[in-house]
Formats: sequence, structure tokens, C-alpha cells
Amino acid sequence: MVRVSLAALATAAALPLVSAVDISVKAAGGNATSPHQYGFLHEDINNSGDGGLYAELIRNRAFQSSSIFNSTLEGWTPVNGAALSLKDLDEPLSKALRTSMNVDVGSSSTKGDGQVGFFNDGYWGMDVKIKPYTGSFWVKGDYEGSFTASLQSKLTGEVFGSTEIRAKTSPSEWVEHEFKLTPTKDAPNSNNTFSLTFDAAGVKDGSLDFNLISLFPPTYKDRKNGLRIDLAEAIEGFHPTLLRIPGGNMLEGNNSNAWWDWKNTLGPLKNRPGFSGVWGYQQSNGLGLMEYLWLAEDMDLEIVLGVYDGLSLNGDIIPKDKLQPFVDDALDQIEFVSGAASTKWGAVRAELGHPAPFKLQYVEVGNEDWLAGGDEGWDTFKEYRFPMLLEAINKKYPHITVISSGSVFDGYDIPAPGAGDYHIYGTPDSLVEQFNLFDNVTIPHIIGEAAAVHPNGGLGWDAGLLEYPWWSGTIGEAVSMIGYERNADRIIGAAYAPIIRSLDRWQWAAVMIQFAADPAKTTLSTSWYLWEPPHDPHPPRVVLIQPLVLRHRQERGQGHLPFKGAVFNATTDDVPVSLTFEGLRPGTEAELTILTGPEDPYGFNDPFTGVNVVQTVKEKLVADDEGRFEFSMPDLSIAVLETKSSKCLKKQKRDMKQGLRH
Ligand SMILES: *[C@@H]1O[C@H](CO)[C@@H](O)[C@H](O)[C@H]1NC(C)=O
Ligand SMILES: *[C@@H]1O[C@H](CO)[C@@H](O)[C@H](O)[C@H]1NC(C)=O
Ligand SMILES: *[C@@H]1O[C@H](CO)[C@@H](O)[C@H](O)[C@H]1NC(C)=O
Ligand SMILES: *[C@@H]1O[C@H](CO)[C@@H](O)[C@H](O)[C@H]1NC(C)=O
Ligand SMILES: *[C@@H]1O[C@H](CO)[C@@H](O)[C@H](O)[C@H]1NC(C)=O
Ligand SMILES: *[C@@H]1O[C@H](CO)[C@@H](O)[C@H](O)[C@H]1NC(C)=O
Ligand SMILES: *[C@@H]1O[C@H](CO)[C@@H](O)[C@H](O)[C@H]1NC(C)=O
Repeated sequence: MVRVSLAALATAAALPLVSAVDISVKAAGGNATSPHQYGFLHEDINNSGDGGLYAELIRNRAFQSSSIFNSTLEGWTPVNGAALSLKDLDEPLSKALRTSMNVDVGSSSTKGDGQVGFFNDGYWGMDVKIKPYTGSFWVKGDYEGSFTASLQSKLTGEVFGSTEIRAKTSPSEWVEHEFKLTPTKDAPNSNNTFSLTFDAAGVKDGSLDFNLISLFPPTYKDRKNGLRIDLAEAIEGFHPTLLRIPGGNMLEGNNSNAWWDWKNTLGPLKNRPGFSGVWGYQQSNGLGLMEYLWLAEDMDLEIVLGVYDGLSLNGDIIPKDKLQPFVDDALDQIEFVSGAASTKWGAVRAELGHPAPFKLQYVEVGNEDWLAGGDEGWDTFKEYRFPMLLEAINKKYPHITVISSGSVFDGYDIPAPGAGDYHIYGTPDSLVEQFNLFDNVTIPHIIGEAAAVHPNGGLGWDAGLLEYPWWSGTIGEAVSMIGYERNADRIIGAAYAPIIRSLDRWQWAAVMIQFAADPAKTTLSTSWYLWEPPHDPHPPRVVLIQPLVLRHRQERGQGHLPFKGAVFNATTDDVPVSLTFEGLRPGTEAELTILTGPEDPYGFNDPFTGVNVVQTVKEKLVADDEGRFEFSMPDLSIAVLETKSSKCLKKQKRDMKQGLRH
């Protein structure tokens, strides 16, 4: 889909826009085009994975620890005088999950109804609705009786649903118990807990040990260990085509012993040790490589696969003579994703339910290697880390485009056939200035992270990050995106980052979608509306090669012509636009969508009021006798126009004729 910009006028020349803007799209000349992708970066930053996109409702379900975080009982509260403690048993649940929770019934068997146990209050609450929840837990110990799993209000104690699970425990081994639980009533808010209780009188040795206590609501596309439906659908709703995994900083890890090791994220949950992350909390590894790949498949996304390249956030750098194992590991990771089921790692993937290889065209080496580790980080990247990975990957997988985690603008003359990655977290003005940025860059690039985050004239990175995407920031993003797309022959795609944010734990500015435990709080930002118009699944057919000289390729069978424009700082209230596509037949119909924002350019979509400040107006236009579409755009607006394909028009005519005959 094409993005042609009126912004070109406003910025390149800063001309007062007093007369009509004439845009004429030529049928010949211009640069070759290729598909341009729109997508996003997701990483588990401040519970946007665990407690966010990953649908697990139980916080700290397996008492995981790492070199950075000790196991804790966070999230867990005893019921009826039980005593909870952490134990590293001689026979742990698994090598990966060594710590479990001991529940000592103490003298509680004499109290009340004898039901003891614990509850979990989730990630700032739990959404409880009449729908089928799926749960499981592991127990070790000698118990005769049943367990009661229930969902209740933390505020009033009201029980919305519960189920009994017949115990099949053993004192000598861990036994998994699975259950289904469908509440009979919707909870009025998300201040709810999940509890598991049992009859103290049935416990032989005074206590039971528990681990991996898990509860899932129905998930996106019904995947086991899957994603939260409303959040996945909010992401799907802006029609992404590209997914950069597994995040940025998270891939690097805090140090060279704590990077995001994809091998720890595979298979049964009991084999996943967890990960210290880089954002100050222990992560479960529940949202692993395979889960990201299912997400890509379910949303039909092109994958940009990040591989660890020996640089971590604390500046640890793997020296040249020690890098080979990491290169081999990256090759294994690529084989896991895209190798035939007959290969070593392809077979592992097949065993996990996906015998067919995933399509993999793009592999990115590291993340922002120009940043961590100072000069040495960037120098070693250029000197041996990128070249070694580029060579090894292309030797085995010549069709894969290997992307450097820095761009030519970071001072790297990226060796062929590599590509670059450019990140911009900017002001509206700096994004508008991006419009021409890639015009003369011959090396292909991805815009791996992009968003407006500071106001114009703000104080920069350390202060003045805005809390939510705001309208003039969104327009800045629109202009930069149009600029990237007009160079679609070299710009592989652009990804918004970060994509979702918990309202209960955050600090980062401007994220596309806000959420809380309560799905009613899920809020689509102004930028979501910019990215939302469906992107042409076919290669774009119109590309701006100089301001106002355009080209379109008429491809057989894919008739419709797209146009996109943005107006930024016009000097008139309304900019009249006159648009022609060379060769377009008079009478051709088009749909025009105009997005406008609030009067205050700093207006944003506030999750606490739920008001959407973006207005979307759709209009049918018909090309006049000269094949021209006439419309006007207010200042700070975005327009998307798509013509109906001529093929479609012919069919309509045929249908009409047939209709007349009958
Ligand atoms: C794009 O077109 C311009 C003008 O015709 C030409 O100078 C330039 O080399 C082309 N770029 C590519 C990558 O083909
Ligand atoms: C983890 O536990 C050990 C042993 O009790 C203690 O020395 C250490 O300070 C703890 N670390 C953290 C990060 O709490
Ligand atoms: C209920 O949960 C919401 C969302 O987490 C929270 O803001 C609110 O303070 C809670 N209310 C009470 C009474 O705890
Ligand atoms: C890991 O990195 C995060 C973010 O930079 C920081 O908050 C945390 O303190 C680090 N932990 C350690 C142990 O270095
Ligand atoms: C657009 O107008 C605003 C408000 O007058 C100003 O701060 C900003 O610098 C202008 N940006 C550009 C790119 O002209
Ligand atoms: C690209 O190159 C042309 C021709 O040298 C030059 O006029 C133009 O300013 C350059 N554009 C950018 C953004 O550097
Ligand atoms: C994550 O959330 C915590 C608590 O709200 C905050 O202190 C921290 O700065 C946040 N980090 C990021 C990267 O947003």
C-alpha cells in the first residue's frame, strides 16, 4: 500500500498551502517496488508478556528464580491458617522448577470446615466471566479427598464459580491434576482471586507440596498456553504483517549469562526455568519462541527473528575466540524455526506440534549494538560479531536477509548482502524530518522500532516522555511512515514499539495499546488508528520518487490503486487535493478515509475516560471526466484512498447487465 505525502510539501518547502495540491500518479518510470510490511515489536516489558499478552492468570505460578531474583511467595496468601513456605525438595518437580510451595495444615484441621489452602491474586486482579477456564497444578504428598478450585471476589468473598477435583496424589512423586472451571456468574470487576483448598483432615503427613499452579481463560485461536483474546485481537485489529521477536533488550539480557535463551522457552511448562528479563522482574518463560511463532502464524505475520550475538545490557561482550558457540546456537535457532522436520532442531519443532517449517526470510543479529557496551560494543559488532553471524547464516541459508541491529545512520557501512535496522523514538518534528531519510540509502533497512514519544521542544529522553500516543505525535509517525514506504524497494518494513502496556506497572511513554486485568480498560491509542487502515496485501503499486511525481504499476488481476497522505502544519484550515492516477477511467469509484484528531494536538485516548479522540470519516468518491478525485484534508489529518479495481468494476457491470436481462 502506498503512502504518498502532502507532508512532503509542508516539510520540504514549508510552503504556505494556499492553493490546491495537485498530485498526478504516472504509469511509467520510477523505482521498482516491493512489499512493505507493517508490524510490531513485543517483549515482556513491565508485564506486557506475563500478566499481559500471555493469558496465564496466576502470578508467580512456579516460584521461579534466576541468578538475579530469588524465589518468592509473591502473589500467594494462605487460607484458613495454612502455613506457606518455599522448599527446594530433594525430588523437585523438574530440573527447571526446583522450588515448590509447601502448605502446612498445622492446627487448622480443627478450625471451621477444615478446608485449608491458598489463593492467588493474579496480575493486579483477574477477569472472571462466565466462560470455560482451564487449570492445572502439581502436588506431592499423601492426601485422601478432593481439591476445590474457585474464583471469587477479593473485595466481598462472593464465589463466582468453583469445581471439585478428586485427588490422586502420591507421597513419592509429583502428580498433575487438571480441571475445568466455568463460573456461573460474571464478576462485576477484576478484583478477584483464584483459590485452591483441600480438607486438612485428609492430609497424612501434615503438609502437601504444590508447584506450577496454572489457570487460563479461553485463549486467542484456542491455543494451549496461548494469548489473551482481547489483547491479541486489538493487535490483529491494526492489520500488522510483520513481527519482530523476541523483543529487543530482552534478547540481550542483563549479562552474558542471562540473555533470552530460546531453548529454555520450549515444550512443557515444567521444563521452562524462567528468565530474569531486563525490566526488573522474574519472567516465567511461558511466552516462549514457539508461542511467538504460533502468534505469527495465527495473524499471518512475516517474522524478523532476533538471535543473540554476544552483547548484553551490562556491556558484557563475548570475545571473538569464544563467539562460535553462539553462532552455532543462532544456526540452531534458525533451524528450529525454518528447518525441515528431518533436521535436528526441526524435529524438536515437529514434536511440539508444527512439522511444517515456518517461513523465515529475515534474521536480525542482536539488538541496538551501538548502545550497550559503549564504543567497544559497536566496534566489536562491526569487527567480528556481525560479520561472523552474517557469513555463517548466509552460508547455510543463502535466501535469508541478515539484518544488522544498527543502521547506516549509526555509522556502519553494512557489508553486503546484509541489511540494517533503524530505531527512532522521536518528537513529531523529528519524525517529519524522516520523510526523506532513506531516499539515498541503497542498503535495505527495517525500521525495527518507531514511535513518537517526546513533545516538540521537550527535554529529551530523560524527561518529557509523554504518557500516551497523542494526535500530533501520531501525525509525525504518519509522515515518517509515508517516507519509509515511498522507499519500499529498500525499506523492508516498519514496526511500532512497544506494542502493549499494563496500566498497573509502567513508566515507558507512548505505547500503542493500554490494558489492565479488566478487558474493559483495553484502550487503542491514536497511533493504533494510524496503523489500522488495511494494508495492501500485494506489493505497493505507487511510489513517490520525487515530490509529486509518482508511478503506479498496473498488475493484472490486482486492480486497485491506493494512496495515502498526511497533512502536518498546513497554513490553511483545509487543503484541497486533486488526485489523478494516469490511465484511470472516468467514473472509477474509490473509498476515501480521513482521520482527524482532537482540537488540542496533544489530545490522546485516555484509558480512564474511554473517549476516542480520533474521528474516522469514510466517503465514496467517483473519478471525474479526467480521471481525477477531488477532496480536501484539514490540518493534522491522514487520508487513505483506495480505488475499486477495474476488474471488480467489470464484474459489477456484468452483474448489472445480467440483472437487467432477468
Ligand atoms: C530510484 O529512482 C531514481 C530516479 O530514477 C534513481 O536515481 C535511483 O537510483 C533509484 N533507486 C533505486 C534503488 O533503484
Ligand atoms: C537471595 O538469597 C540469598 C540467600 O538467602 C541472599 O544472600 C541474597 O541476598 C538473595 N538475593 C536477592 C536478590 O534477594
Ligand atoms: C480493584 O482493582 C482495580 C484495578 O486493579 C484497582 O484500581 C482498585 O483499586 C481495586 N479496588 C479495590 C477496592 O481494591
Ligand atoms: C537488570 O537490568 C534491569 C534494567 O536495566 C535493572 O533494573 C536491574 O536492576 C538489572 N538487574 C541486575 C541484577 O543487574
Ligand atoms: C509545526 O507546528 C508546531 C506548532 O507551531 C511547531 O512547534 C513545530 O515545530 C512545527 N513543525 C514543523 C515540522 O513545521
Ligand atoms: C539525495 O541525493 C540527492 C542528489 O544528490 C540530493 O539532492 C538530496 O538532497 C539527497 N537527499 C537526502 C535526504 O539526503
Ligand atoms: C516498570 O514499572 C516499574 C513500576 O511501575 C517502574 O518503576 C519501572 O521504571 C518500569 N520500567 C519501564 C521500563 O517502564
